[in-house]
Amino acid sequence: MRLGPGPAAPIDAKRPGALLEVRHLTKRFGGVIAVNDVSFVLPRNEILAVVGPNGAGKTTLFGLICGFLRNDQGKVQFDGRDVTGLPPHVIAKLGMVRSFQIVQMFPDLTVHETVVAAAMLHHALPAARRLADEILEELDLAEKRKELASSLPIQSRKRLELAKCVATDPKLIILDEVMAGLTLVEAEVPIAAIRKLRDRGITFLMVEHVMPVVMRLADRMLVLNFGELIMQGTPEEVMSHPDVQDAYLGAALDA
Ligand SMILES: Nc1ncnc2c1ncn2[C@@H]1O[C@H](COP(=O)(O)OP(=O)(O)OP(=O)(O)O)[C@@H](O)[C@H]1O
Ligand SMILES: [Mg+2]
Repeated sequence: MRLGPGPAAPIDAKRPGALLEVRHLTKRFGGVIAVNDVSFVLPRNEILAVVGPNGAGKTTLFGLICGFLRNDQGKVQFDGRDVTGLPPHVIAKLGMVRSFQIVQMFPDLTVHETVVAAAMLHHALPAARRLADEILEELDLAEKRKELASSLPIQSRKRLELAKCVATDPKLIILDEVMAGLTLVEAEVPIAAIRKLRDRGITFLMVEHVMPVVMRLADRMLVLNFGELIMQGTPEEVMSHPDVQDAYLGAALDA
């Protein structure tokens, strides 16, 4: 059943304008249409969660938006500019950064050096070091600052992914399953950090399978299935829809 993309998101006075607009985005891998004619608007300062079963096209969608993958059709508009086809480092400099679902670290850098390297996108070394100190403190990673990033357990690596994003002074952070593998107690640190960052004006687009986290954090949700955007709404609207619950989120609800 196709539920349709639903009405456009209401944009209230406190959140003027869209930060990100995705129009008719499409990506094929051979015979597979991984992302199929997806359009949505992300208002400034919103936390938008993308959900859907394995293989629905979530990571591919993020790759297209951030310039890591070439789209076959469609457009990505960010902060008033057409960024379709721009390389990731140019898009990052404009203020859109992403984390990776499969975390890879520079093998020789410590936790602190990793965040300093990200902060140097916009800052000279002394300021980048100070910023990295603040961010590691905020994300409860200060004690691990001298450890090799590649030696961290997965929970801390995911937090380091978030720290790297924050260090680039972004307008939009795109998070691909940064809570995966965390208990709800362990997720408290990143949840609190994301809320605080949003209060400071950062917008978030996230894929997250841990539904209690999505319900607590997201203002709105998009549901993807077989590459298509089948529904959008508040977490309550989406989760209470019987078709979504039965067909698409049953497995994730148990996670
Ligand atoms: N580089 C690639 N080459 C070929 N097919 C790909 C490639 N990347 C993704 N796909 C296919 O595109 C579809 C969407 O994959 P994608 O990784 O975007 O899904 P996802 O929603 O992120 O899944 P998951 O929840 O497992 O992370 C799948 O059918 C996948 O096999
Ligand atoms: Mg994925």
